[in-house]
Amino acid sequence: MSSATIVETVGGMLRGRVAMVTGAGSGIGAAVVSAFVAAGARCSGVDIKARDDLIACDVTDETSVFRAFDRASEFGPVTDVVHAAGIVSLGRVAETSIAEVRRVLDVNLLGSFVVGRLAAQRLTDGGSVTFLASQAGIKGSAGWSAYCASKAGVMRLAEVLAKELGGRGVRVNAVCPGSVDTPLLDEAVAAKAALEDTTIENVRRSYVRAVPLGRLATPDDIAKVCVFLASGLASFVSGASILVDGGELD
Ligand SMILES: NC(=O)c1ccc[n+]([C@@H]2O[C@H](COP(=O)([O-])OP(=O)(O)OC[C@H]3O[C@@H](n4cnc5c(N)ncnc54)[C@H](O)[C@@H]3O)[C@@H](O)[C@H]2O)c1
Repeated sequence: MSSATIVETVGGMLRGRVAMVTGAGSGIGAAVVSAFVAAGARCSGVDIKARDDLIACDVTDETSVFRAFDRASEFGPVTDVVHAAGIVSLGRVAETSIAEVRRVLDVNLLGSFVVGRLAAQRLTDGGSVTFLASQAGIKGSAGWSAYCASKAGVMRLAEVLAKELGGRGVRVNAVCPGSVDTPLLDEAVAAKAALEDTTIENVRRSYVRAVPLGRLATPDDIAKVCVFLASGLASFVSGASILVDGGELD
């Protein structure tokens, strides 16, 4: 069965929406911007990377995120935020420096808090926030210490915000991908191979073998779920953490 293009799948679902997507310079965030545009939204991409088509913003810095909201609002009041900016770091607990834990928590958890805080202040009623958490926030795996801790925190933050903003009709959810073929995964696979004294190919094969659907996710697989969550199809979905892992976790 051939898979439908993103436009065939999501065309028109977000017409009239104004979105801001963090982490838009790569991987999942970039795919979310394309999918939101294909779905009819006016969409601004935000990233720490400087690029002409992106709003420069460090999600750990509140002033920077405030300015990014201002820029994204040039299309009209922002209705939907997808927060995909994140970093990965591998290391066993005993061997991970506190400085490294702080770096990961700073971007993944504090960054989510900053984006969530400004979204709570500035999103229109009836809007949505979608956080990219991870399968790693649901279940711990050896070597993923700080990353797992950060993503579990993101899931709880989404639940709290869903409760706090529900009265305004703002829905807040987390998406928990398994292994998605992006530069972040390449970095994780290389680090895992080094930790386990094996090859990158072996680690990659083991990740594919673990997925009942028999492949890694593409960024589009995750972006489609983000479109769904921002759309009217998800009108009663809030406070949810949606696992998108091809059936991997049992
Ligand atoms: N790839 C996977 O297998 C996978 C699995 C589960 C969850 N996730 C999560 O999905 C999200 C996107 O991951 P990806 O795989 O697309 O990664 P990626 O590395 O391809 O893209 C992440 C983007 O975030 C940006 N970024 C990093 N720090 C930032 C900061 N302080 N401020 C603004 N932007 C910043 C980077 O510049 C990059 O463009 C992340 O939160 C990641 O943890 C990824």
